Amino acid sequence: MRKIAILGIGQTKVDEHWDKSLREVGGEAAFLAMRDAGMENVDALYVGNMLSPTISGQNQLGAFLGDWIGLWKQESVKVEAACGSGAAAFRSALMAVASGDVESALVVGVEKMTDKAGRDVTAALAAAADADYEAEQGVSFVGINALVMRRYMHEFGWRHEDFAPFSINAHDNAMHNPYARLHEKITAEKFERSAMVAAPINLMDASPVGDGAAAVVIVPAERVRRKPRIVVAASAAATDTIAVHSRKDPLFLQAAYLSSKQAYEMAGITPKDVDIFELHDAFSIMAALSLEASGFAERGQGARLGLDGEITPKGRLPVCTRGGLKARGHPVGATGMYQIVEVTQQLRGECGETQVDGAKTGMTQNIGGSGASILTHLLQKED
Ligand code: COA
Repeated sequence: MRKIAILGIGQTKVDEHWDKSLREVGGEAAFLAMRDAGMENVDALYVGNMLSPTISGQNQLGAFLGDWIGLWKQESVKVEAACGSGAAAFRSALMAVASGDVESALVVGVEKMTDKAGRDVTAALAAAADADYEAEQGVSFVGINALVMRRYMHEFGWRHEDFAPFSINAHDNAMHNPYARLHEKITAEKFERSAMVAAPINLMDASPVGDGAAAVVIVPAERVRRKPRIVVAASAAATDTIAVHSRKDPLFLQAAYLSSKQAYEMAGITPKDVDIFELHDAFSIMAALSLEASGFAERGQGARLGLDGEITPKGRLPVCTRGGLKARGHPVGATGMYQIVEVTQQLRGECGETQVDGAKTGMTQNIGGSGASILTHLLQKED
């Protein structure tokens, strides 16, 4: 397999883009990535998206977006893995270019969520849970995560306020990201006093819905003269049971453990070598579970990293350096691509106030459903 480099990146602000259609939001990120790569054409297009059939009444996003951006002949497909769709599309593109089947690929993660009322969006999201045994019972994703969080607090003795650092760090970092949805610093007091969504998850534990797109152009690394060169050191994916209640241990993200382990082996590194971790903080409990399963904290101790100040841009393991899902926003099928774009920005040294000094290796982890589909990528900077 060939080594792959990220040549161009592009993203839109995560927002309520009521004045733009799905094709315009996706097209904007795609054109920005192509311009950044200095390319006018690519050999294939991969689109990550989750909700377009239900929210926008539009399927077949490969042809839909390819048509809009002028790719009329080459392979164009959509890849879907719920909230993990973005990274799943990225991985498909990697496989195609690494195998030598195509020479270049454009990957676009795009989602429009705010054109429908909140209850419709909640129902659309719930379609990624187990239809027979979860959604049928009326539980939403917030509800499922609330059950997991309550169990975690019970098992390991954490209080709700112990999760505040995840949210405070995300909001602080988003202040310096022009593409973030929420630009508002929060305090521990605000974290505790926010409106309840599904106990114990309140508004400050949850990621906001939003519209947005992020894109990259990838090519074989040997073609890239630009310095620093950002290469993909590892790509791994794993799957768990779709329903949380079917898991032997609902507090362990097995697919995060398996995919991160495989990624470390592929890159020949250990968790200690990771300089930045863009994790999937759809809810604060997921940040803690992801840190534990990926080897950064002992079982039940994920929250400790936040309390000890280790997750800020100056800490031992900076996470959510551009605001994470919590404050950059979580346009579900686009999120995995935002993570890839953000780590690329960090490795290029383009992150200003939240730049992580000397960052050489960045990790992304994108989660579909309540931990059912998990993709882990490692990017590295080559000077
Ligand atoms: N954190 C902080 N502020 C938030 C927020 C969040 N998560 N979500 C919304 N807000 C703010 C908005 O900016 C808005 O502020 P404004 O009045 O100053 O403009 C206000 O709260 C109301 O926004 P609105 O969009 O009407 O919120 P809502 O009550 O309809 O939805 C949630 C809030 C948390 C219920 C919704 O965002 C949600 O369902 N999130 C989870 C999505 C999800 O499950 N994703 C999949 C994960 S697997």
